[in-house]
Amino acid sequence: MKKYNIAVIGGDGIGPEVIGEAITLLKATGIEFKFSYAEGGYGAYKKYKTPLPTETISICKKSDAILFGAVTTPPHIENYKSPIISLRKRFDLYANVRPFISLPIPPQRQDINIILFRENTEDLYTGEEYKIPGGAVAKRVITKKASKRIIQTAFEFAVKNKRKKVTVVHKANVLRLTDGLFLKIAQSLSRKYSNIIYEEMLVDSCAMQLIKKPESFDVVVTTNMFGDILSDEIAALTGGLGVAASANIGKTQALFEPVHGSAPKYAGKNSANPLASFLSACLMLEYLGEIKTAIKIKKAINSSLQNKYMTKDLGGTTSMTDFTKKVIHYYNYP
Ligand code: NAI
Ligand code: MG
Repeated sequence: MKKYNIAVIGGDGIGPEVIGEAITLLKATGIEFKFSYAEGGYGAYKKYKTPLPTETISICKKSDAILFGAVTTPPHIENYKSPIISLRKRFDLYANVRPFISLPIPPQRQDINIILFRENTEDLYTGEEYKIPGGAVAKRVITKKASKRIIQTAFEFAVKNKRKKVTVVHKANVLRLTDGLFLKIAQSLSRKYSNIIYEEMLVDSCAMQLIKKPESFDVVVTTNMFGDILSDEIAALTGGLGVAASANIGKTQALFEPVHGSAPKYAGKNSANPLASFLSACLMLEYLGEIKTAIKIKKAINSSLQNKYMTKDLGGTTSMTDFTKKVIHYYNYP
């Protein structure tokens, strides 16, 4: 049996807690893993004066995949760069894939099945800002190369997974050069995929349609910042940030993380929802080719929720660690 080498960066706040639970669950599957723990985030910054020590990068380099919790970004430190953004850049993890699929959590809607592809390496996230008299300027970068690969990834996913529609979200009416380029590339690529319905939507209109008619969305592809914002909105339709998972995929490396941040309010209380991390671990298993185990875990999660075991954010009373125990129970006794 293959043994997978997984780099683990718990990070700050609830990050190490929810990732710890995901590791407990992964260990219960019987698949062989070697977990290599690495530091990253504000805690690491306080110790080493950098949120992403070189040791962490070398552990990631040697791994088959990276599991990442969440980090705190201190607002008071100028020039502080979040390690998650640095890792995405460092390993060229260009596709941020975020599936939002309804879970049995009443009264949440039961008809949501949206896969969001967010460009992950450019846009406003190059972090280049400078001051001008009376204000400040941020640089927004959109390139042909990055746009093409994320849009193509979304279309290829749609074909492979028998999806019907790809919606390209943009603001090309205002950002004529940057989003204009993104849109032009989408239009040109869409012609190659004649079996997939192609749709274009302005980001503001998309934000409204996601509330009005979320069931009409299928695969969505967009630039970095719009993807970041729309992700949290779509998460609200399926149970909130406690259940939203993501994959950051590159050509040679991949990183899996819950969409949420370090939620300091919840840290140390055994009450954070580890589900987003469980679903992120499932995305990692799928990436590693362990599809059956991922399906089995998702079924166990559904059984736990159907039997009303859920954490506080979902209206339940189950603690974080008890929820993990329940999922492992239903994994072993489906
Ligand atoms: P957040 O995602 O940490 O929390 C927002 C709210 O969502 C929480 O107050 C809580 O009510 C809920 N929530 C999130 N995750 C949950 C979970 N697993 N279980 C239960 N409830 C959960 O976002 P916030 O408060 O804006 O940021 C906190 C810190 O996290 C900041 O320093 C921010 O920069 C950072 N952040 C880091 C991210 C990352 O590591 N990728 C992403 C987003 C924010
Ligand atoms: Mg976000």
